[in-house]
Amino acid sequence: MGTSGAAARIADPAFYARPSDVDAVLGALRHDDPVHWTEPDGYRPFWTVTKHADIKEIGRQPDLFLSAPRAVLMSAGAEAEIKARVGDGNLLIRSMVRIDDPDHTPLRAITTKWFQPGALARRQAAIETLAREAVNAMAATGGACDFARDVANPYPLRVVLSILGLGREHEGTMLRLTQELFGPQDPETKRDVDALTFAETVVEFDRFFAALTAERRETPQDDLASVIANATLHGQPLSQHDANGYYITIATAGHDTTSSTIAGGMLALLQHPDELARLRNDPGLMPSAVDEMLRWVTPIRHFMRTATADYSLRGRTIRAGQHVFLAYPSGNRDEEVFDEPFAFRIDRRPNAHLAFGFGGHVCLGMSLARMEIAAFFRELLPRLDRMELDGDPAWVATNFVQGMKRMPVRFSLRS
Ligand code: HEM
Repeated sequence: MGTSGAAARIADPAFYARPSDVDAVLGALRHDDPVHWTEPDGYRPFWTVTKHADIKEIGRQPDLFLSAPRAVLMSAGAEAEIKARVGDGNLLIRSMVRIDDPDHTPLRAITTKWFQPGALARRQAAIETLAREAVNAMAATGGACDFARDVANPYPLRVVLSILGLGREHEGTMLRLTQELFGPQDPETKRDVDALTFAETVVEFDRFFAALTAERRETPQDDLASVIANATLHGQPLSQHDANGYYITIATAGHDTTSSTIAGGMLALLQHPDELARLRNDPGLMPSAVDEMLRWVTPIRHFMRTATADYSLRGRTIRAGQHVFLAYPSGNRDEEVFDEPFAFRIDRRPNAHLAFGFGGHVCLGMSLARMEIAAFFRELLPRLDRMELDGDPAWVATNFVQGMKRMPVRFSLRS
């Protein structure tokens, strides 16, 4: 497949619902035009960067390649709408992924320690309990369910709620938050938010999180919400806007991404029964299997950067002010880095995948994500006698966070 027509597809949400097309188009770019000037209709143009080494080169230079003002690809129409609502340069939600220094480093530092493996070990038992509940709920469906909707989706949301310190009673509210503020571009799953406009949604959540901050300032607990509520930025208590942005980022960044890896990882295991059998027989392979699932699925399709100075990359000049689209799924299939990149191998080592990004903004929650995915499969696999697809799986149409819309399965699970 050539590279003509790639521009329209790179931006098109529907393109990403067909994983084999994604592999073909990105593979052609990687070979023929790895730093590709991309001008899709209805979007401001950008460079699409598809090589593993180039994604790393850009990620490791956050001063030269900023996350603001264009961290995520949106149509020119959507960008104009947001600008009309919140003005230029303002962020409706102050999310760390859209912020550069001088604020990014200290904001990130507020929770860095909390997300390190040593500190997370204290959460292991609670996460294992949630994994067991998820598998029990699956067993309770009686042998047939939509694995994506019924199992992979609720579990990571519960993990996020538990680390933030929010009880089960907030599950509905937080689910709505993910759906309304970061609703998928897929027409089939897009919710009708007529009754509650977007702006009203933000006001509602601001109120919810302001109450949370007040509560945790008054009575700090052993949870992430208390760390955020009582943090400072440049010597001042975190503003409500910053605290809200923090809670929302954690809640949303940790949800769909992990659900998507669990569903896509399960699908890969079903499609590679030998690998599934190996993993059941040798649980010691779990850490490398989890990383292979992350590489295989690569839930985040892209993040973007904006150059602060002219920069030369593979003979192309990225001009100051131009934008770069980091195509993580392509980096994770780069033949120069991965031996047989299109093979799913649960013992792949080394596995320097870019599913968590690279550099200054590399995923803060990566150890938690790994822990949570491993806990789930460690609970499921020993109890699973058989499982097979019971219909075609379907992917959400989105150019940002990949998800599975449907994954009907039949199974037999020991209680
Ligand atoms: C499979 C699961 C996950 C994947 C694939 C994933 C992927 C990513 C990627 C690619 C970035 C880089 C953004 C950039 O470079 O601009 C990122 C950042 C981030 N992730 Fe994750 N993530 C996952 C799970 C989580 C979890 C569980 C949490 C927390 C509960 C989390 C919190 C964050 C935060 C706070 C950032 C922003 C870091 C910064 O801007 O400095 N992520 N993630």
